Amino acid sequence: MNCGGSGHWQQRADVVVVGTGVAGLAAALAAHRRGSRVVVLSKASRAEGATATFYAQGGIAVVVPRTDDSVEAHVADTIAAGGGLCDPKAVTSVVADGYPAVAELVDFGARFDESAPGRWSLTREGGHSRRRIVHAGGDATGAEVQRALDRAANTLDVRLNHVALQIVRDGDAVTGVLVLSEDGLGVIHAPSVILATGGLGHLYSATTNPEGSTGDGIALALWAGLPVGDVEFIQFHPTMLFTGNAGGRRPLITEALRGEGAVLVDARGDSVTAGVHPMGDLAPRDVVAAAVDERLSLTGDPCVYLDARAVPDFARRFPTVNAACLAVGVDATSALIPVVPGAHYSCGGVVTDVYGRTEMAGLFAAGEVARTGMHGANRLASNSLLEGLVVGRRAGSAAAEHAADAGSPRADVEPVARVASDRTELQRAMTRNASVVRDAEGLSRVADLVDAAQLRNMDSRNAFEDAALTATASVVVAAALARRESRGCHHRADHPDTDPTRAVSANVRLDAEVCC
Ligand code: SIN
Repeated sequence: MNCGGSGHWQQRADVVVVGTGVAGLAAALAAHRRGSRVVVLSKASRAEGATATFYAQGGIAVVVPRTDDSVEAHVADTIAAGGGLCDPKAVTSVVADGYPAVAELVDFGARFDESAPGRWSLTREGGHSRRRIVHAGGDATGAEVQRALDRAANTLDVRLNHVALQIVRDGDAVTGVLVLSEDGLGVIHAPSVILATGGLGHLYSATTNPEGSTGDGIALALWAGLPVGDVEFIQFHPTMLFTGNAGGRRPLITEALRGEGAVLVDARGDSVTAGVHPMGDLAPRDVVAAAVDERLSLTGDPCVYLDARAVPDFARRFPTVNAACLAVGVDATSALIPVVPGAHYSCGGVVTDVYGRTEMAGLFAAGEVARTGMHGANRLASNSLLEGLVVGRRAGSAAAEHAADAGSPRADVEPVARVASDRTELQRAMTRNASVVRDAEGLSRVADLVDAAQLRNMDSRNAFEDAALTATASVVVAAALARRESRGCHHRADHPDTDPTRAVSANVRLDAEVCC
């Protein structure tokens, strides 16, 4: 609905959702079901391939009734992987709600692979004690989830080329979002806003994330004065396809391959994970990524290899990986796949409860952008689509409820300039100094770079993303500097041991001390 006003275009909605991946669309559909007028924003110019959901390969970790699995076992695996920082109540709440959320996806038309008619085929990934990962199209689970959600949301008001620049607020409550679209600057006045913007992989030169993963939601929350938590825990996937020094989004080589028997070896054919962890190649992801990183440091080799030659029916079961390998001239049925660790997932984010509620009335966050306490210091494989679905739905319902109670708030806003580093320089500095292994000296170099960032007007998607990356880098580095120990995905070369007294999450606000 358009409403008059000064300067920018102005509209009104009940709930604005920023992001079109699993959490965003699950939230939008839930709010719509509750009668809210919902507007969904995406900064992408085309829907296909815009979200990390689309690229998810392995699957959705979920406890399927009438199997040998249990909520208790899934919770225990999640907590064991999380390096002492998971919130057990949050984990239990999300895991317990997984099956109904996945069943709803099936109602939306998602089709998961079956081992027999009516029985999902379940695979395993690192850190899981059971086969509990449902998948689709072999290794194209995310594409199927996205297809089903896009279809369910096709009557909603979903807008491409809309960059959410700033949360608009009146005192302690949200009143809308300042947006940059092809029509220029505008405000969507709304009592509820849900951030579902995904991750921050483009803090690094190479990542498994789509090009839009630039820490937008973390930055929007920080600029609105909110805390983020656990942001030092950036998960590096152990097996991103190695293709020389190519940057940007690089293909993922799913961990499910190791669940089906693939093994990690170095250039001499020696196992990378032998003796590192009792689960070997299926150890939690932080352990395997660190083992790969260490082997590369010891040998000076540019990559290690995944040997998938013994995986049964490889090309049919893993068509996405097969195509990515063939595209770089590797036939994985007869040759080894060159891999390196790649920036993959932010375990931390905007601090929320398991309903997506932040400390600001009307502002919600769900999916990778949020920190619910589910992942702790290291996310268990395939728990991300699960969390996005479960918390997305809940956040949508909570946002609709809030909107129904909050009336029609409205506040004026003008865009502000933000500090922004040069993106390539920042990515190089983060890659060199804040990857799998960090130390105080390197992290301080990134902090100095960020401190020297210059003010820019937020007059394009590019400028906004550069500023979002800069704000996000500043809190990642502050949290990583403050955590003088190694835990989960945070490895400090200068503090290699885990300090049992530091088994607490750290929150950080923009330009403030890190606090536990
Ligand atoms: C993978 O398929 O290896 C990635 C799954 C995930 O990130 O949870």
